[in-house]
Amino acid sequence: MRPGKERPGPGAGGELTSAALLRCLGTRRLGHRVDVYPELASTNRTARALAEAGEPEGTIVIAEAQTSGQGRMGRRWVSPAGLNLYISFILRPRLAPAESAKITLLTAVALADTLKVHVPRAPRIKWPNDILLEGLKVAGVLSELACESEHTLFVIVGIGVNLNYPRALMPPEIRGRATSVMEEAGAAVDRVRVTRSLVRHMEERYIEFEEHGFAPIARCWNGYARMEGCRVRAHTPDGERAGRVRGLDGSGFLVLECEGGLTERVVSGDVFLDGAEGA
Ligand code: BTN
Repeated sequence: MRPGKERPGPGAGGELTSAALLRCLGTRRLGHRVDVYPELASTNRTARALAEAGEPEGTIVIAEAQTSGQGRMGRRWVSPAGLNLYISFILRPRLAPAESAKITLLTAVALADTLKVHVPRAPRIKWPNDILLEGLKVAGVLSELACESEHTLFVIVGIGVNLNYPRALMPPEIRGRATSVMEEAGAAVDRVRVTRSLVRHMEERYIEFEEHGFAPIARCWNGYARMEGCRVRAHTPDGERAGRVRGLDGSGFLVLECEGGLTERVVSGDVFLDGAEGA
């Protein structure tokens, strides 16, 4: 944390309640119902159960703490009480299951849109949807898809954001590569305001995608990623690829220019800057 600022105790930065979040939210598609729990195993799990029971698009599940917060690739998401944001959206996009990664990518853009006003230097997106501040991870997205053959039934978009989490309280296994908005901003943020803003940005990007397709989202993603021309190694389900980043294309693939002028399109996995084993 920057010097001269006081650390907030747990619960600082606005109590997350459904009533506070719904006040002046002003969205039309997302957030007609917001359920806030003191503690859940995982907001994604609860949102999925609601979606399976027929809950319509737009419902939001939030927990003040998670006992089994899930991250990508089977990792856990550290979820202490009262400091951060753990939120899941139920979406029912009219989209083929193979295109669902675009929802996760647009979520990363909405997150960067939300956080940029709170920190001195713009957030960066790290492929595919980690949000970094000064090279350290502040937020991540875990999307879960339910489909029936070629039809998407729903997508649960789960987002974890470290808001007022002092690095000193982070467990050692994440402290070296994680940060929080408070650490970078130098002061605690109002969790209700940030959450409302995230819901609004999610809705804006979701509607933009429906109306204009993925290309404008890809342009913004590239702007936040600032990766074009960087040499990277991609760990994909089909093995490791090394190359120079051309950028995210209009189909949601990360395009790499590899040895011998070959072009590779990466759809999933982790990407590391050459010489770095990132967050
Ligand atoms: C990642 O590994 O980067 C993704 C982390 C996603 C964590 C969020 S917290 C809210 C939602 N519920 C979960 O169990 N996971 C996601």
